Amino acid sequence: MNQEKIGQNEQIPNFSGIEEAKIEDLDAITALNHKLCIKENREFDATIDPDYPTSQRGKEGFKEEIENLDSLTLVAKAGDKVIGYLMGGHAEVEDYRTVKNIYEIGSMWVDDKYRGKGIGTKLMDRFEDWARERGATRLKVIASAQNEGAINLYRKRGFENYDLVLEKDLVQDTKDSV
Ligand SMILES: CC(C)(COP(=O)(O)OP(=O)(O)OC[C@H]1O[C@@H](n2cnc3c(N)ncnc32)[C@H](O)[C@@H]1OP(=O)(O)O)[C@@H](O)C(=O)NCCC(=O)NCCS
Repeated sequence: MNQEKIGQNEQIPNFSGIEEAKIEDLDAITALNHKLCIKENREFDATIDPDYPTSQRGKEGFKEEIENLDSLTLVAKAGDKVIGYLMGGHAEVEDYRTVKNIYEIGSMWVDDKYRGKGIGTKLMDRFEDWARERGATRLKVIASAQNEGAINLYRKRGFENYDLVLEKDLVQDTKDSV
């Protein structure tokens, strides 16, 4: 069995490493992003369409990301199986900001039984190295406010609060606001 040592005592059974995604990985990435959207919809944000990833537009979006030279899609593999991914790339920056070269992590997922073993960290390391090589001066990521696991990982890597987005549901809230 292929094993990679990551810490003093930790091993990831069958982990075969992180690599750049190929178009053949499209279905596997779509399936993992589908799991992510289902989780986000159930646990954090009911406005997320859990089936968007498997829609025509969703699939086309992932294909474009894999092929886009301003984006990086990474897959983590156990044997031949894709058990995690990270997708991100160059971000649009508002004209009024002085920082121009911002790169954004769009989404990431590591399958349950592989979590807590450093794979998310490895995916982020690779993305950060790639962004630095391309001249990035800043990284960003948007997380659901209640997604404590992911937010812990980002904070551990030096990400700090930036914007706070507030939304109000006008369908549920029938009370007049003052
Ligand atoms: C977020 C995620 C990708 C992290 O992957 P991972 O391989 O488990 O990450 P790591 O093992 O590298 O964890 C690194 C650090 O992140 C933090 N962390 C990760 N998951 C955590 C959790 N569920 N709760 C609390 N802290 C967590 C910890 O500080 C951890 O360090 P430690 O193990 O030394 O305590 C994974 O938990 C996941 O797929 N979650 C569901 C999808 C998701 O939320 N994606 C991000 C939104 S797009």
